[in-house]
Amino acid sequence: MSQDAYKQRAAEAAIEFVESGSVIGVGTGSTVNHFIEALGRMRQRIDGAVSSSEASTRRLEALGIEVLDLNSVGTLPLYVDGADESNAHLQLIKGGGGALTREKIVAAASERFVCIADDAKLVDVLGAFPLPIEVIPMAQSLVARELVVRGGRPVLRTGVVTENGNIILDAHDLEILQPAELESDLNDIAGVVTVGLFARRPADVLLLGGPSGVRQMQAD
Ligand code: 5RP
Repeated sequence: MSQDAYKQRAAEAAIEFVESGSVIGVGTGSTVNHFIEALGRMRQRIDGAVSSSEASTRRLEALGIEVLDLNSVGTLPLYVDGADESNAHLQLIKGGGGALTREKIVAAASERFVCIADDAKLVDVLGAFPLPIEVIPMAQSLVARELVVRGGRPVLRTGVVTENGNIILDAHDLEILQPAELESDLNDIAGVVTVGLFARRPADVLLLGGPSGVRQMQAD
């Protein structure tokens, strides 16, 4: 089976967490696309979704799922999203798809964050996947210099403007031993909008699809 099939397994397992009559927070990416497909098959049982990107919004609406403004719904019971990496504490690197800011907002507004991924995403130490950072354009050089000071090698994601009108710097070569501390530190750099580290608010549940099914991990 392919990694995509493992993603699909994890995504379909997340449907068990969806409560009837609720509004669901929906992330972005190829794993989430499988979740949206599964959600479409039970769309009569939910009241709608809050989406983290235009791409997910289009997919949700195409399946007849109403997309609601976060400001109109308040706290969400559930957020389902993928990740680029997770450690055993369910601290994540996200933002490979560039939607990290809205993803972090919806995650923060949710009581439970269920992360769905294929088994290759589980790592001992975060950082092999370059850490995405959304930056106000005029701060590109400043933030890049600050990343170098911290041992990173920032690379501008060329041709990408986020849905918030900003750029993304991908920080390579970081061995992230203290994710929550680094998240706070990077968030404090002037011009940083969002760091793709989800460590201060990690996932609550990680569903990892693999060759023998879906492994469920809980936050410690
Ligand atoms: C998008 C994300 C995605 O969740 C992450 O990149 C994983 O993507 P995929 O499910 O395609 O492997 O953070 O910003």
